[in-house]
Amino acid sequence: MKIVPKSPNSRSSKTESLLPSTLPDFRKPVSRSRSIRIDFGAVALRPESLMDKFVIRGGNPLVGSVRISGAKNAALPAMAAALLTDEPVILENIPDVRDIQTERNLLVSMGAEVELGYGRASHRTTISCSNLGNPEAAYELVKTMRASTLVLGPLVARMGRARVSQPGGCAIGARPIDLHLKGLERLGASIKQEHGYIEASARRLNGGHIIFDKITVTGTEDLMMAATLAQGETVMENCAREPEVIDLAVLLTKMGAKIEGAGTSTIRIQGVEKLHGARHRIIPDRIEAGTFVIAAVLTGGDLTLTNCDPTHLGSLIQKLEEAGVRITAANDSMRVTNGHQLIAADISTEEYPGFPTDMQAQYMTLATQAQGTSLITENIFENRFMHAHELVRMGANIKVEGRRAIVRGKTQLSSAAVQCSDLRASASLVIAALVADGETIIDRVYHIDRGYERIEEKLKGAGAQIRRIGEILPKRAQAPSVVA
Ligand code: EPU
Repeated sequence: MKIVPKSPNSRSSKTESLLPSTLPDFRKPVSRSRSIRIDFGAVALRPESLMDKFVIRGGNPLVGSVRISGAKNAALPAMAAALLTDEPVILENIPDVRDIQTERNLLVSMGAEVELGYGRASHRTTISCSNLGNPEAAYELVKTMRASTLVLGPLVARMGRARVSQPGGCAIGARPIDLHLKGLERLGASIKQEHGYIEASARRLNGGHIIFDKITVTGTEDLMMAATLAQGETVMENCAREPEVIDLAVLLTKMGAKIEGAGTSTIRIQGVEKLHGARHRIIPDRIEAGTFVIAAVLTGGDLTLTNCDPTHLGSLIQKLEEAGVRITAANDSMRVTNGHQLIAADISTEEYPGFPTDMQAQYMTLATQAQGTSLITENIFENRFMHAHELVRMGANIKVEGRRAIVRGKTQLSSAAVQCSDLRASASLVIAALVADGETIIDRVYHIDRGYERIEEKLKGAGAQIRRIGEILPKRAQAPSVVA
């Protein structure tokens, strides 16, 4: 299946246009054609998915095995990297999650051709940016996914200009992109900000010396991509060292970029005239793996995670061992066995290789089941404790004080109607529901669909009782009959 920019003549039944600068119109009837179902998955563009809920009955141990998907946060920059070349970039192990669909829409709106694999190759995406016309990331797409700003660097580097909506606020914190912009200026781009958009331009970027004021993951990725086509050498210091940054560097190197030091805090890039196409397999999702590990621990299960990379989960594994969990790790799999008496252990989120902020919410659920007091400190985002209030509604004893949460355990969790506020908060509620007494209803699961591929199917496969339901609207009241 190929997704190409809309053209008045494109009548092929295999061609779907995703061009509109706005999101798809949910009011239009959804086509029943096979292509729509296959391309956008069960959750993606169904209007009703915005209202979906999970009903989870707790108490079942997770047993068996779960295959971990490709990392969303590695796939997003990899897809943006395709903008750097006019040759096709073939990406394997792309997760089928909503953020990836948003990025596809974004690339198509700029003129990229995106081809999706079928059947066993359904996690392959081929992106061809030979005819880029419109270097713009519109507000409608950026507001739903901040990582859209990852196109900024590649667009300026390849096209000499970019117009990208400012992302605005976010549920977990302010999340400015000032460091991306400062870095681009250091590479010679001129930046203008007006009408809610950032306009960046440069005839050709020049290599430069960038010292990040603060470690930023997508900032490092954005500028690394920009620097690959700049004239001369770029040295970036205080870079993010996440596995996703390394994965991007591996892809860019396959495309002909000259990069040294990815995975350390100093990255050196020798700019080249042109990049070419490449084939690349995205690394496994360490956060999805970590989420399933915690779910298995808390349900007293015996779960093996396949297609994962335990070396990316060092700080989580160490902390879980401190809390009394035993994990057996092999090359590309991990096994969690049952029967752990959990004891409280403090965490403090840090940049990689520290404890990931993306695992803080799930760890908080674990802390509610540990004996003693756990202190959880969130250092990366200023507002990432929304799940705490929902966990309290389920019976947890949690006190939030600024960037710290004090969790006292062990408390019996009981089912309740709860609401997701962001992607990882949703995961913490799903885990809580798996151990709670009774049936929990989790609302706004579209947050979880952004980053977890078919989580309910994976959980169900391991024995959980979970069901996705669309909202059932109350019957409209009968209009009273008019009495003359
Ligand atoms: N920051 C700035 N200025 C900038 C950029 C960042 O002040 O220009 C600040 C942020 O506000 C934050 C800190 O720096 O306080 C770190 O933010 P970072 O830029 O590293 O975050 P990000 O790149 O926007 C990525 C992941 C997030 C993950 C964070 C931290 C992607 C697409 N997103 O975001 O993933 O939480 O790094 O590890 O890679 C998720 O998957 O649920 C998610 C939120």
